Amino acid sequence: MPAVTVADITTLARVPEAGPTDLDRRVRSVTTAPTGYEGEGFPVRRAFAGVDLRDLDPFLHMDQMGEVEYAPGEPKGTAWHPHRGFETVTYIIDGTFEHMDSHGGGGTISDGDTQWMTAGSGLLHIERPPEALVASGGLFHGLQLWVNLPRAEKWSEPKYQDLRAAEAALLTTADGGALIRVIAGELAGHTGPGSTRTPMAMMHATISPGAQLRLPWRRDFNALVYVLSGAGSIGPDGQPIETGQLVVLGPGDVITVNGANKQESRLAGLDVVVLGGRPIQEPVAWAGPFVMNSKAEVLQAFEDYQKGKLGVIPASYVPHGDLGGATS
Ligand code: FE2
Repeated sequence: MPAVTVADITTLARVPEAGPTDLDRRVRSVTTAPTGYEGEGFPVRRAFAGVDLRDLDPFLHMDQMGEVEYAPGEPKGTAWHPHRGFETVTYIIDGTFEHMDSHGGGGTISDGDTQWMTAGSGLLHIERPPEALVASGGLFHGLQLWVNLPRAEKWSEPKYQDLRAAEAALLTTADGGALIRVIAGELAGHTGPGSTRTPMAMMHATISPGAQLRLPWRRDFNALVYVLSGAGSIGPDGQPIETGQLVVLGPGDVITVNGANKQESRLAGLDVVVLGGRPIQEPVAWAGPFVMNSKAEVLQAFEDYQKGKLGVIPASYVPHGDLGGATS
């Protein structure tokens, strides 16, 4: 269950009701994320698998990490690896992750915190559970979203934003049936803490059983809804959705999501991530950890990485004992 909740939801600002002429965005596609493993072997759902990049633009890739209950010694992370040309946004719903990069960024994020890393011209980073958590095991659930950068920003200096859970703007619906956490972008005059390079919004909503969420959504943004957990329906025709499904919505002004009356007993409701942004509409050349505009630029990135131009592992980096923190 998401760590960020509120004691009294009725004290929160309300999302305004949609107007009579507002167009409800219709479902264009529903896909089910395949499962796989990332890094040293943590379980992920590949949220965007099988969806055309043009429908995702400005987003590229998203992994739901967990939800998993680790046994002692089991938590895993990634090795040091490079990125260039985009941003990685790591949102920890439950649990803790440590980050460090070759550009001086890093820190520990847990229970509703977000790390927003602009790789820009390039860096190396590592993401792993803290040593104490490796030893103890425990709950881990998060997301990593990749946001593309427009051509003009791909060579910008790397930047690290540490967004704390308490900074997210929290809103609810008219009847208090949904909790909306705004991580980036704006909703009814409330702005999330994430500073973005391209206009976009990222929100996490928990919709109570039987409740309805109607989110006003900018017409110039695309609209993606990913189900973290639970069951419900979406769009004006009430298309059923469940855990691990991604919905691409068509044009319009409003996103409608309904929580099913009955949810698994361990769940507070239907949990969804809602994403939207203004499409960048540039060619995408993507291989592994590099996302550029042309194949030549991607080859250049591999060459620069091999020459050490994307940075080096900081001297202050301390590998974990035998339990993790590979340095390859
Ligand atoms: Fe990474």
